[in-house]
Amino acid sequence: MNRLDTILDKDRLDPDDLAVLLGADTPAKQASVLDAAYAVKIREVGPVVYFRGLFELSNLCSKDCLYCGIRRSNQKLERYTIPIDEILSGARWAWEQGYGSVVLQSGERSDPAFVDLITELVTKIRALSHDQLAITLSVGEQSEETYRTWFKSGAERYLLRIETSDPELYRRLHPADHSWERRRDCLRLLHSIGYQLGSGVMIGLPGQSVEQLARDILFFEQERVVMIGMGPFIPHADTPLRDAIRNFAWKRHAQLALALRTIAVTRLYLPDVNIAAATALQALAPNGREQGLMAGANVIMPNLTDPKYRSAYQLYDGKPCVDESATQCRGCLEGRIASLGETIGFGQRGDSRRFLRRNAAGADGAASC
Ligand code: 5AD
Ligand code: FES
Repeated sequence: MNRLDTILDKDRLDPDDLAVLLGADTPAKQASVLDAAYAVKIREVGPVVYFRGLFELSNLCSKDCLYCGIRRSNQKLERYTIPIDEILSGARWAWEQGYGSVVLQSGERSDPAFVDLITELVTKIRALSHDQLAITLSVGEQSEETYRTWFKSGAERYLLRIETSDPELYRRLHPADHSWERRRDCLRLLHSIGYQLGSGVMIGLPGQSVEQLARDILFFEQERVVMIGMGPFIPHADTPLRDAIRNFAWKRHAQLALALRTIAVTRLYLPDVNIAAATALQALAPNGREQGLMAGANVIMPNLTDPKYRSAYQLYDGKPCVDESATQCRGCLEGRIASLGETIGFGQRGDSRRFLRRNAAGADGAASC
């Protein structure tokens, strides 16, 4: 047996194994990693895909991440904030369709009007769905008070990508006033408040090694992340990192393959977390998200933002489904998922099993992980 097969044969991976799997360098080895991850997914979370309806509610952003298309310095964009009523009717539609959960995402702001907007949306979405729709917030770094206010209003899950677990790499991708440590502390705060904690990284960043990606996966474990959203880095033409990867067009295939392998290795190391097949996968291949599901992901975030706003929320170039309505997106996704032999968990919240297990262990007085 070669080294890779020996690792894949283990019941539990060791931290040192992760970089070996991530570095699999032949098509046959890469396929073995993905197949092993799919088997673990079927065993741990079943052939069920959970939908989270995504609303990109505003592209106003106070930050200036060097890779992001909606960064404050990008003046080519028309800025928008979707009116509350439009979001509420979209959330009602999602609930009526049997979605278990919605995600409210936007650029980062922390002014009082924004804090109130989110509080109102959370309160009203919980009310209109008779507390059935689980709400995930993905609106960046905020104060403890704000996180607590939103939690009390009924938001139970929070997604804050650390982008990379390597502080030095983070510094190269952000202006000097953006702080990796502050972001990490936000994750700790969110966990201590009781949120189901989501995070993630970009894969294939300029200068990123497989050892760094391996440490990203260990970071998720250490910081008690139970929902993971990771996608390939894709340069955006109106950002300083537009040319950070030379000849990107030639590297799309390798970038997609590395992203899929990172999803797979995450599933192998953390078998019971929720992992999203990020939309960015589909920017690199038309069936990129399905490939994500076959590599171990079990969550998809159909975009429910009205198409009239979508072109102004291009975080990276080539973002798919810019013109499709929510209904079209649903039809297209359902067909694709059925073709994989999986079903959609309509009418289920789809909480992360790792989160439920940890809470149950905590309630029994056992040490929580
Ligand atoms: N390529 C890939 N992902 C990106 N994001 C932002 N810009 C890019 C890019 N150029 C991701 C970040 C952010 C999420 C909302 O979108 O990880 O957290
Ligand atoms: Fe908006 Fe990074 S540019 S959070």
